[in-house]
Amino acid sequence: MQDQFVGSNGRAALNEASIFCEKLREAAMKCGQDTLANCRLLDFGVGWGRLYRILLNHCTPHSLIGVDIDSKCVQLCSEAMPYGTFQLSGDPPLSFAPATFDIVYAYSVFSHLAEHAFRTYMSEFARILKPGGLVVFTTLKGPHLDAWHRLSTGSDPWYVEYLKRAGFDHEGWLARRANGEFLYVPTGGGDMRDSSFYGEAVVTEKFLIEKAPELGLSVVAFEERDEMPQAFVVLQRPSN
Ligand SMILES: C[S@@+](CC[C@H](N)C(=O)[O-])C[C@H]1O[C@@H](n2cnc3c(N)ncnc32)[C@H](O)[C@@H]1O
Repeated sequence: MQDQFVGSNGRAALNEASIFCEKLREAAMKCGQDTLANCRLLDFGVGWGRLYRILLNHCTPHSLIGVDIDSKCVQLCSEAMPYGTFQLSGDPPLSFAPATFDIVYAYSVFSHLAEHAFRTYMSEFARILKPGGLVVFTTLKGPHLDAWHRLSTGSDPWYVEYLKRAGFDHEGWLARRANGEFLYVPTGGGDMRDSSFYGEAVVTEKFLIEKAPELGLSVVAFEERDEMPQAFVVLQRPSN
């Protein structure tokens, strides 16, 4: 299940998540938190709970809520961590009052969601975040276009078909990336993760700088470093 959900397992999967959790903690400190122990956090797309487990080193299971659209994930996390707080989530609005959380984080979720889902959830996060609160998430790095290019001419007919249906052409999509467009290939992800909203997504820095204010957020950090396989992004709900 670990492999199916995150493409790795065991120590490698946890190491990758630990880097994200440490960067999340540093971002929270830079943005004025003294410690995560006083924060309320939402793990959006909790999966099998790898980030949840790591963040329990810093906060209590009452202040950390894990949600997922997949009831298998919610059940697995609830059984493995009966002391934790896990909920099934659906389409927005999410079942949280305005200004509930200090931090909403999502690892390897917005590397998959379509633009309409991205926009809807980000607006929703702005609603449920406290003023000054953070959305910390990952997306595919810009150079993922090279991987799509290789796959579009490769031997896997499944990818060739999906990239063709998405209208992928390398030069054209490089220009779209430079223009700050949201790049998405609707592959689907199995079960309820159908291709109407789930696939592979590159959210560019330019897109975020231009669109985040419409969604009630501003860009604090956008990093595409070697230390992580995906881009690391921090958005903030402005303080009142
Ligand atoms: C690639 S997995 C990553 C899981 C976990 N964040 C991790 O890194 O270990 C993506 C997860 O996001 C969940 N997901 C996808 N769309 C979602 C949505 N709209 N709302 C909540 N969870 C969603 C999936 O069911 C899946 O568990």
